[in-house]
Amino acid sequence: MLANTSLAPGKVILFGEHAVVYGRPAIAAPLTQLLAEVSISPVAGDAPKEILIDAPDIGTHSRLQDLPNSHPLAITTILVLKHLGVDQYPAFKISIRSAIPVASGLGSGAAVSVALIRGIAAAFERPLTDEKVSSLAFEVEKIYHGNPSGIDNTVVTYEKPVYFIRGRSPEVLSPKVGLNLIIGDTGVSSPTAQAVAGVRARWEAEPGSYERRFDRIGDITRLARLAIERGETEHLGPLLDENHTLLQEMEVSSPELDRLVEAARRAGAWGAKLSGGGAGGNMIALVPIERQAQIAQALREAGAMRIFFSEIQPN
Ligand code: PMV
Repeated sequence: MLANTSLAPGKVILFGEHAVVYGRPAIAAPLTQLLAEVSISPVAGDAPKEILIDAPDIGTHSRLQDLPNSHPLAITTILVLKHLGVDQYPAFKISIRSAIPVASGLGSGAAVSVALIRGIAAAFERPLTDEKVSSLAFEVEKIYHGNPSGIDNTVVTYEKPVYFIRGRSPEVLSPKVGLNLIIGDTGVSSPTAQAVAGVRARWEAEPGSYERRFDRIGDITRLARLAIERGETEHLGPLLDENHTLLQEMEVSSPELDRLVEAARRAGAWGAKLSGGGAGGNMIALVPIERQAQIAQALREAGAMRIFFSEIQPN
């Protein structure tokens, strides 16, 4: 068994969350400065097949066999060992640390899954393709999110900005110019599964108006892709703003998110919107670099609990 450390980034959704669950395109990018880290190391002296899981961020320090079957770390570990066909192994320890806020739309669950899958595969010297890593992480997401589109595991695995349509191979985006984002955390945790279930209930009640909103979000995302590839940053602002309005209409925004979005716009952002499942979690603002400091300050004054800066690099 090979001791190793694997990393995986968080992510932001730039365009298309929720509509992506219903087959429309979405655009997401990795947050490479916010990482989940998984270290695997053999434990001398313990009985074979004993696995110790140490994840202080979520208060877990336990033997695998003592965790409930429904625990995401247990599910992921068992899934990977099964996939690798490994059933005899020495005792080992899995240590998990993550700088990605939990349940806030930044892909923390997918990042831990991806780093854990890669770590276990590396420990048994059976590296997996990105496609395989992503599909195993998707299996875990399905257990936790009910009906995920697959965008989180995809962008976290490939670590590139992607244009994503459910069920298709992701297309890597090549931005013509760098895009500066500020991410503002409301500090309100919000499980994605609940937000996704809420949209589903409202879509079932009013399919016509929801389908029209999903269609418009799909159009916005396609226009945004063109603007990103052509380096037309000024066109992205109004598209972000309109996407946010549609998400508000779909009742996945919140007063805290709206306050941060409004503050960023007033302080000079090109545009701003909630990002991810919504109802809490994080918002993003696309900002001219020279206004970055003022916008960050405005977000703090409007109640942001944490601020992250991210540049989507040009290609
Ligand atoms: O994990 P979150 O909160 O970033 O949400 C993922 C995006 C959704 O479109 C809301 C759900 C999905 O599976 O695509």
